[in-house]
Amino acid sequence: MSRSKSLAVKYLAAAVLLFGVMTLAGLASAVYYINPDFLFGFVPFNVAKILHIDTMIIWLLMGFMGAVYWFLPEEFGCEPAGIWAAEILFWVFVAAVLAVAAIFVFVQWGPGTETTLWLFQQGRKYVEAPRWAAIGVALVMLVFAWNVVGTALKARRITGVMAVMSVNMVPLVLLYLIAFPKIDNMAVDLYWWWWLVHLWVEATWEILIGCIMALAMMKLLGTSRRIVEGWLYVEVALVLGTGILGLGHHYFWIGTPDYWLGIGGFFSALEPLPLLGMVVHAVYDAGVHRMKTSNQPAFYWTLAEAFGNFLGGGVFGFMITLPQLNLFAHGTQWTVSHGHFAFWGAYACGVLSVCYIALQEQRRLVTVNGSGWVWAFVLLNGGLIGMVGSLLVAGMAQAFFERAIGGSTLEAFIAGQENPWFMLGMYSRFGFGLMFAAGYLTLAWNLSALGRRQVAAVPQPMPAE
Ligand code: HEM
Ligand code: HEM
Ligand SMILES: [Fe+2]
Repeated sequence: MSRSKSLAVKYLAAAVLLFGVMTLAGLASAVYYINPDFLFGFVPFNVAKILHIDTMIIWLLMGFMGAVYWFLPEEFGCEPAGIWAAEILFWVFVAAVLAVAAIFVFVQWGPGTETTLWLFQQGRKYVEAPRWAAIGVALVMLVFAWNVVGTALKARRITGVMAVMSVNMVPLVLLYLIAFPKIDNMAVDLYWWWWLVHLWVEATWEILIGCIMALAMMKLLGTSRRIVEGWLYVEVALVLGTGILGLGHHYFWIGTPDYWLGIGGFFSALEPLPLLGMVVHAVYDAGVHRMKTSNQPAFYWTLAEAFGNFLGGGVFGFMITLPQLNLFAHGTQWTVSHGHFAFWGAYACGVLSVCYIALQEQRRLVTVNGSGWVWAFVLLNGGLIGMVGSLLVAGMAQAFFERAIGGSTLEAFIAGQENPWFMLGMYSRFGFGLMFAAGYLTLAWNLSALGRRQVAAVPQPMPAE
């Protein structure tokens, strides 16, 4: 196996392990809503939640990198430029993640000084990591960008998918720099922070996963490159056309001018279109190729990605995106419901699909079968949809009782938290969270055991594209 593919397997393995840490931290965060005294004085809710969402960003990034390192040598027919630097940085990255996690757990309070920003944490949601670690992440991303773009220059030829991916590397890296500056005015700070959060998940990550899924589709179904690339260009144009100004849906209530209500409402209402395009594309490919593939789990996870992206991002995002409704839904569990469905559907499912693709080749399996992956698939998706439904109920209860009827007063907020519908949502979210965690364990077991008993399988190259 090429060096790039070995590195890919390391990144994917690290991603799956961190996914486990993330799930555990998510379960812990959910307990506080049922028993606020949980782990009292040791790990408070905010620390558990930071661990949960920061490990999410990192495991998904690692998953994307694993996917890209996996496909790079196939797309270019050579080892990526500077692969040695990526190999070293992998271990630096892992060490930094462990160090930051320990810091979050052990350093929970202190003054808001420069030292804190450099050594302990920067306090911006999703990118709380202290500056030293953030510099490390920026370095890893830079080398990652160099691996992609540099290889194109070295190979002196480029496929359409790789051209899109290379251009996309520029905003991917530049946006991360927003994690650094110290801005005292909270409105200004949020204004820029949303560039990072929104333009990552609704533009650059969306394009990156689009490229990865395009490569996966070609591999799994043997779809022709011409068709896959044609779709990709249309999707990218739509994502950029709707997603960039869709940023306005975060500018409704943070002190930005009124015109954002109209711009944000209009463009973000169009954001489901590219995601719908992706579903149509996946179903079309699957239909044309009669769903024939030697890697069923990977194929099912790509379908889950297409539908999850559309439903979780597009439909659940659309529900709360018009300012008239966002006024009530803003910052409630309704948002959390959308956040879970979207991140899971758009990104986690895509990474899991690539895990199975990589395993099939690494372990030389002619076909990937068995029932383990089916259990993992059903428990994970069932658990997640159950959590999303529970959060939707809790969030709607907040929107109705706390906002619409209660008028957003402090008393209404407290009453909302004690509302029976809200509490029901919190309990059932935890129940479905347990189901999800069981799915995670099944997945981890399946990924590590897959094919190990089929030692006799004939070594065989992957089916041609
Ligand atoms: C066992 C499974 C999980 C449980 C129990 C869980 C629980 C939680 C809890 C309690 C929060 C805090 C919400 C709040 O501040 O009120 C949270 C936030 C979040 N979780 Fe999870 N989670 C799980 C899995 C996941 C997965 C698989 C993803 C995505 C791939 C995810 C993404 C997020 C995101 C993006 C947030 C921040 C949402 C926001 O503040 O709007 N979680 N989760
Ligand atoms: C796959 C892509 C997407 C992901 C991963 C995603 C994820 C998230 C997350 C995690 C949040 C909570 C942010 C926070 O406060 O911490 C959020 C908020 C929001 N998202 Fe998305 N989203 C996606 C696509 C969309 C789309 C397509 C729309 C519109 C059609 C949308 C509309 C919104 C709105 C309006 C909010 C703000 C909710 C509020 O005011 O509380 N999202 N999204
Ligand atoms: Fe957004």
